[in-house]
Amino acid sequence: MHSRQTGVSALGSLWLQSLRLLLVLSLCQFINSYTEKERARDLMYRYPLIDGHNDLALQLRILHSNRLSQIDLHNVSKVATDISRLKAGHVQTQMFAVYVMCGAQQKDAVRLTLEQIDVVRRMCTEYQDFELVTSTQELKNSEMRQKIACLISIEGGHAIDSSIPTLRMFYLLGVRSMSLTHTCNTPWAESSSTLYNVFQRQNSSLTHFGKAVVEEMNRLGMIVDLSHTSWDTALTVMNHSKAPVIFSHSSSYSVCNHSRNVPDWLLRELKKNGGLIMVNLHSQFITCRNQANISHVADHFDHIKQVIGAESVGIGGDYDGAIGFPEGLEDVSKFPALIQELLKRNWTDDELADVLRRNFLRVFEEVERVRDQLLFNHPSEVQIPLEEVQNSCRLDLRNPYPRGILPDKSSSSTAELKSLSLLIQASIFLTFFF
Ligand SMILES: *[C@@H]1O[C@H](CO)[C@@H](O)[C@H](O)[C@H]1NC(C)=O
Ligand SMILES: *[C@@H]1O[C@H](CO)[C@@H](O)[C@H](O)[C@H]1NC(C)=O
Ligand SMILES: *[C@@H]1O[C@H](CO)[C@@H](O)[C@H](O)[C@H]1NC(C)=O
Ligand SMILES: *[C@@H]1O[C@H](CO)[C@@H](O)[C@H](O)[C@H]1NC(C)=O
Ligand SMILES: *[C@@H]1O[C@H](CO)[C@@H](O)[C@H](O)[C@H]1NC(C)=O
Ligand SMILES: [Zn+2]
Repeated sequence: MHSRQTGVSALGSLWLQSLRLLLVLSLCQFINSYTEKERARDLMYRYPLIDGHNDLALQLRILHSNRLSQIDLHNVSKVATDISRLKAGHVQTQMFAVYVMCGAQQKDAVRLTLEQIDVVRRMCTEYQDFELVTSTQELKNSEMRQKIACLISIEGGHAIDSSIPTLRMFYLLGVRSMSLTHTCNTPWAESSSTLYNVFQRQNSSLTHFGKAVVEEMNRLGMIVDLSHTSWDTALTVMNHSKAPVIFSHSSSYSVCNHSRNVPDWLLRELKKNGGLIMVNLHSQFITCRNQANISHVADHFDHIKQVIGAESVGIGGDYDGAIGFPEGLEDVSKFPALIQELLKRNWTDDELADVLRRNFLRVFEEVERVRDQLLFNHPSEVQIPLEEVQNSCRLDLRNPYPRGILPDKSSSSTAELKSLSLLIQASIFLTFFF
């Protein structure tokens, strides 16, 4: 009985000891995770995020017809982005995509793009929390003023309707980046997608005109974005561009073999170019499935870092541009959880400061430096050959009565012409005054 009692009490003390050990262990784990969480917040406080891609403007069009007066951008339902959540996520600069569907190519893509630029400009000027910026200097100033800086980026080169003057006017409206394609080829650059059966792939995935677009973007100081282009187009652009380029929202093809992602050989070319890949968080590009979690996302970061180093990696969430984000990364307030996971995987503070903002700033500054070097270059006058555009909506600007072709055999036709011109003048007069 005595011995049995001893046995029981020994068992009890063993049990107590293991309980104590368990408590200590879980306390350690608690402190550790608490520390990582705090470390992530602290790091993001010092190096707030520059995110490469956000499609809130598209949702504003779809859900609210761009009527900003109907909503309060501090708190917007049915979307993943609003001011409260951007602040909670330590997002300091947001590249807002102005995107119009490929169906608008050869139709009203330019008007729709203008309307999307308008809604981003309104959003970023009517709310005190936002500030529209167009340079690295303005971006840094807005950080000091504790504003969320908005950068405007065109998504899909069809927005310029194969016109370099149109590209220049978009620059004047504040656009500082353009992805050369979306899911459709343009007459001058090739998409990674075969969704649209337009402008079939030709010998060259970046035409003579496409190269002129890249050169003009270099001259203006507009960042060339290769997310959505084909690998061949991306390679040709990297070879041709005088400034570094970005993939604003693409992930690693080695980790998930989606055509929107970037293979290792192309990552190495990107490294030579001095550019940046901003990892897309959409589940389909992370696991090639609808389910994903933060570990899967971190695998992309680890892989890209291993191939080209942390100095070539950034974050391009793609929130509101796709449906389905990983568990724990559902909206723009969740970025700190990703940084926490990367800390857990032994990414250093220095590497993460690069990922969060310094890499992007370096690339944008280099784009500005190239622009300054090209200061004395003239605006491009390259025009796309009409047969490459194949657009029946384009007005063929020719004199309807060119000299020499004019039926000049009789004076009566000249008289007819004179009366026609009088008629036109009269109708212009009438239009203006009545
Ligand atoms: C946003 O609005 C919803 C109701 O519309 C409310 O439940 C929620 O608490 C609000 N969130 C913030 C951060 O204000
Ligand atoms: C493609 O290449 C062939 C011969 O190499 C040439 O004749 C043709 O004009 C090219 N087409 C285009 C669209 O460049
Ligand atoms: C890159 O450009 C060089 C010349 O600048 C050229 O010789 C080479 O073929 C190009 N490579 C690609 C893949 O375009
Ligand atoms: C992508 O990977 C999956 C398996 O991971 C494979 O079944 C599929 O064939 C691959 N697709 C391509 C285009 O390589
Ligand atoms: C993510 O899912 C994988 C299984 O696919 C699992 O091994 C891993 O622990 C999960 N990570 C998190 C953070 O939940
Ligand atoms: Zn996209």
